[in-house]
Amino acid sequence: MSKMDILKAPFLIEMVRTVTNMYNHGWDERNGGNVSLMLDGHEVEKYLEVEKVLRVIPTGFSEPSLDGKYFLVTGTGKYFKNVQYAPDVNLGIVRLKEDGSNAELLWGFTDGGQFTSEFPAHMMSHAQRLKVDPENRVVMHCHPANLLAMTFVHDLDERAFTRTLWQMCTECIVVFPDGVNVLPWMLCGTNEIGKATAEKMKTARLCIWAMHGVYGAGKDLDEAFGLVETAEKAAEIYMKIAHLPRINNMTDDNFHQLEKRFGVKAREGYLN
Ligand code: 13P
Ligand code: ZN
Repeated sequence: MSKMDILKAPFLIEMVRTVTNMYNHGWDERNGGNVSLMLDGHEVEKYLEVEKVLRVIPTGFSEPSLDGKYFLVTGTGKYFKNVQYAPDVNLGIVRLKEDGSNAELLWGFTDGGQFTSEFPAHMMSHAQRLKVDPENRVVMHCHPANLLAMTFVHDLDERAFTRTLWQMCTECIVVFPDGVNVLPWMLCGTNEIGKATAEKMKTARLCIWAMHGVYGAGKDLDEAFGLVETAEKAAEIYMKIAHLPRINNMTDDNFHQLEKRFGVKAREGYLN
């Protein structure tokens, strides 16, 4: 059966639009940031001969729960600003094999490139999020300026950091009632930061990497994008007001009212 044009696949179009939008938001300077989207194998088969493996790329880690899973992922060293003009160079579709220790390249990275250096953090986070939310499909990493700035001047305690963000916009607690987790500075692109990030993904869909950026996870690209967007907006407001005398504040009573109105439950122990 002849295959459909992958450049017209809804998942590919959505990925290109999302990374372009991330670039336009200023979250992804140069090659900063990376995104991975888990794909349905049957969906991929509409576009690709899935038996035709172009290359096998060792991953350097093991993640047995993802064996056989397909991912559309951004390439290492690739600029988000260029993805829309050359998706086949800057993106790739891989299938994990041998307990996740190898990735079979099925499409993309046509210049001989490979998936992001943050592949361990992405795959380990997917595995972890799927355990708590079987609908999770996306892991997104980027460098939004205000969240990053905040890690220089705010206590990195997760409860304190979360509460400050919640206090900055009324709807924050509705969008991320699970709050944000925070990792101290760690060397990026390693299995160690991958494991630490995945551990943080047990309890929240957002994980800040101090002095580096943020990870977001969600059931689709819109949800992950919206999470980062909302947290970054809150951080922007914080950075605008942090040095000014505070006259008005959101209260815990306000938060409790929001919980009731929107049917959400703030993270255990985070409200007074
Ligand atoms: P990659 O170019 O390998 O995706 O790395 C960018 C980045 O943001 C590292 O944390
Ligand atoms: Zn980064």
